[in-house]
Amino acid sequence: MTNAPNKKLYIKTYGCQMNAYDTRRMEDILRPMGYSSVDTPDTADMVILNTCHIREKATDKVFSDLGRIREHKIEMEKNGQQMVVAVAGCVAQAEGDVILSRAKYVDMVFGPQTYHELPEMLAKITGAYGSARVINTDFPVEQKFDFLPEENAVSGSTAFLSIQEGCDKFCTFCVVPYTRGSEYSRDVASIVAEAKRMVANGARDITLLGQNVNAYHGTGADGKTWGLGRLIRELAEIQDLKRIRYSTSHPCDVQDDLIEAHRDVPQLMPHLHLPVQSGSNKILKAMNRKHTIEDYLATLDKFRTAQPDIELSSDFIIGFPGETDEDFEETYNLVKNVGFTAAYSFKYSPRPGTPAANMTNLVREDVKDVRLQRLQALLSEQALAFNRSFIGKPVEVLFDTKQNKAGQLHGRSRYNTAVYATGPARLCGQIVNVMIEDAGQTALHGSVQITE
Ligand code: 5AD
Ligand code: SF4
Repeated sequence: MTNAPNKKLYIKTYGCQMNAYDTRRMEDILRPMGYSSVDTPDTADMVILNTCHIREKATDKVFSDLGRIREHKIEMEKNGQQMVVAVAGCVAQAEGDVILSRAKYVDMVFGPQTYHELPEMLAKITGAYGSARVINTDFPVEQKFDFLPEENAVSGSTAFLSIQEGCDKFCTFCVVPYTRGSEYSRDVASIVAEAKRMVANGARDITLLGQNVNAYHGTGADGKTWGLGRLIRELAEIQDLKRIRYSTSHPCDVQDDLIEAHRDVPQLMPHLHLPVQSGSNKILKAMNRKHTIEDYLATLDKFRTAQPDIELSSDFIIGFPGETDEDFEETYNLVKNVGFTAAYSFKYSPRPGTPAANMTNLVREDVKDVRLQRLQALLSEQALAFNRSFIGKPVEVLFDTKQNKAGQLHGRSRYNTAVYATGPARLCGQIVNVMIEDAGQTALHGSVQITE
């Protein structure tokens, strides 16, 4: 190990689970350099904002948070201490120059493909304080996954594992192809090795992550290209890995081997997050989604035939340019007919540099608000009805490794719904049947059935 001095690291994560995964890996990289994570930025030696550029709101939040970080940095400097301020992630990738010129107190700006170079970047700054600001928004040819430390800390029974990154789909509203770059799949061997380490550290439920995870096409042990279904079968061989999930998928990349994995692999949980964005074929076309609603419904049918227990969640964008009342009704009716157990819905927000940002047939904000509220009311109703359908029934729950503050057990159902239960602490980290007594829109409540 190391005898590096103890330093405080504060990382704030915005946005998606891939950013959450990246944050953990940054912690893993900085740990051997003496950095350990703290919960507040005020006296941290290093502050990293791991940012999200997907919608305008998320980006604005970064700039307002930076203002507050600046105050802390000034305080520390008054006391003769140094605070390194870094902006990482997708805002850094898209607006690195702007950040450095607007926020003089930011020392480092680096994109999502470069964080394995953190030690070198940090050395440039701490070596000659103030003189070397760093900007690193390359898409290096050598992928960051090849450079990450072997060690990783898993803190609980669930873990996230990035297997694929980037996107080549170019939906007209989306910044991902520009901020995360083109599609890249890790080799099977490195994924299996990482999953085994996670399980050895206590993980029992692993979610495979990718911007377009079902486009996964990594090299397998036989030198051939494996799809997501084949990879899942391989991971299911890991002893003590009880649950496998994946997110997020594109309807056009659903392969038969994935559908068959839902039929054959008991560890693969019966839940599918398949964003559709809109129920109108006209809007899907304008979004460059490359499929129709009929294609989407046919895909859902295949999943449901292979795994009748499967439940669906999705993403929706409301008020995309050109969306009429009729187009919105089609989205509303799709939600009604399919029945989603959970969903994320957003008002369309134009992103600089994307094709849709140049569209002129914009939908008024107040119209977007009304539509969003209506859709969210329906989605909430469906989520609540689904959760309430478990009342009076036993549900299989994987408990976290620790009780929460209220002395309650907290865990996840097979559908990834949060479950709070009363029961003995010795059940932490185990899969146990919980009798559900009450249900809300996002969580189930119950008590453990003790049989012995
Ligand atoms: N405006 C609103 N929502 C967006 N999303 C992506 N880009 C935008 C945008 N410009 C949503 C999509 C995607 C989710 C991750 O974020 O629904 O599936
Ligand atoms: Fe963005 Fe579309 Fe790629 Fe998803 S598939 S990351 S929405 S461009």
